[in-house]
Amino acid sequence: MKTFLNAQDIGDLRQALAEAQEIKRDKLKHVSLGRGMTALLVFFNNSLRTRLSTQKAAQNLGMNVIVLDVNAGAWKLETERGVVMDGDKSEHLLEAIPVMGCYCDLIGIRSFAGLRDRDYDYAETVYWQFVRHSSRPVFAMETATVHPLQAFADLITIDETPLASPGRRKKVVMSWAPHPRSLPQAVPNSFAQWMLAASDEQAGIEGGLDFVITQPHGYELDPQFVRGARIEYDQMKAFEGADFVYAKNWSCPGVTCPEDYGKVLGDYHDYLSWTVSERQMAVTNNAHFMHCLPVRRNMIVTDDVIEAPTSLVIPEAANREISATVVIKRMLEALRGR
Ligand code: CP
Repeated sequence: MKTFLNAQDIGDLRQALAEAQEIKRDKLKHVSLGRGMTALLVFFNNSLRTRLSTQKAAQNLGMNVIVLDVNAGAWKLETERGVVMDGDKSEHLLEAIPVMGCYCDLIGIRSFAGLRDRDYDYAETVYWQFVRHSSRPVFAMETATVHPLQAFADLITIDETPLASPGRRKKVVMSWAPHPRSLPQAVPNSFAQWMLAASDEQAGIEGGLDFVITQPHGYELDPQFVRGARIEYDQMKAFEGADFVYAKNWSCPGVTCPEDYGKVLGDYHDYLSWTVSERQMAVTNNAHFMHCLPVRRNMIVTDDVIEAPTSLVIPEAANREISATVVIKRMLEALRGR
């Protein structure tokens, strides 16, 4: 594996989930695989989970790790070609990337969406510049439009969580929730993509799953990620009988209203009924609550729901180490010619 951006990059999902469980049983099983090799983790944005879990994953595989916070100590980078660099940016990414490639064997990139230019964000311009110019395998640690390490960790979490009444298809509901600021669509895009890939009984998790998205009008996600998903605009109806509720805010994806791309539509106070609370959870099948974190309490989800015994937010975060270990292991195996 040389790139990791989409669900199909991981190949057979059953095999990937089996590998995740094998790594969970013994995180250091492959500690000799990365010996003498270096992972460079480049952050253009803040992070807690991705930073810690991906470092830990590379260390599980015996690698040296370098973390670069672009906004804390590095030269300020220009990312767009053709710009006259007479502002505060001292170095262009097109020189910085091959230089970074000199010091490592593989690269992880965290680069959020700008949420101003939809075409630029959805072309994944920064990620593909790293692939083209670093001459190293590159994996996404959340890019402009996707967060595959999170979605893989979420799938591992759903796969290993037993239902009260097993032996039937699991119902997974992803719900938009309110937020005062504009957030990217990366997490919901990837969660949808991975859930749809897993919904096939042959390809995905034991028993298969049914995937439903609920959101207010205007927040329709890009069809490349959600094609095949059931969309339900009535949140209470969507939650009926759910086994897993995945809450997330996202800004307007600009699908039905391109001029509003990246915006919070209207006043978020008018959408506070979408906050996941015991009112919605009461119509579920004693559903497990999920969120990628960080989460704004009593905005996305109430204290009671996130603190309930059925909440999976901490196991999801723990599984970030596992998903990253599987992905880096695959890249190291390709580098070793295995
Ligand atoms: N879920 C997630 O990616 O968390 P961080 O932004 O803290 O890395």
